[in-house]
Amino acid sequence: MRQKLQVYCVIIILASSGFGFLIYKSISNVNTQSIPIEAIQGKQIFQRKACIECHTVFGNGGYWGGDLTKVYDKYGYQRITDYLSAGPLLSGAKHKRHQQLTTEEAEQVSAYLQFINSIKTFNWPPQGK
Ligand code: HEC
Repeated sequence: MRQKLQVYCVIIILASSGFGFLIYKSISNVNTQSIPIEAIQGKQIFQRKACIECHTVFGNGGYWGGDLTKVYDKYGYQRITDYLSAGPLLSGAKHKRHQQLTTEEAEQVSAYLQFINSIKTFNWPPQGK
């Protein structure tokens, strides 16, 4: 009888510590990263300037200018800032299609694209699609 109780207790302890570990794992996977204020300002510029009319983000938007979800990986902060504040300097930019942003606005949009880039998208967008 006593032995049965001990086995029972061991099972309970193992089960609850396993369960506790799983809870800990799922909580530590929750994204606790806060959004930098500059990125939020960049998002507002992105909306005000209607970038979405020609660009997709996470697959939504216009299809002319290409998807910007992971464009930060491609060029980085400085090149995107220069591109948006000084006209089309990136490869493939053959025509002047963008309205020029101030340096401050361009930096904020870069910060926004940097933040978007940090979101896990499981290889979205599909390459060349
Ligand atoms: C009228 C349509 C249009 C609007 C509006 C527009 N873009 Fe674009 N964008 C394009 C096109 C077209 C390209 C491709 C450039 C080329 O090949 O000349 C491009 C290219 C880009 C690129 C480089 C992409 C790459 O993969 O090389 C970035 C970054 C970008 N745009 C950001 C923006 C941002 C930020 C805004 C809003 C402030 C914006 N665009 C508004 C049409 C647009």
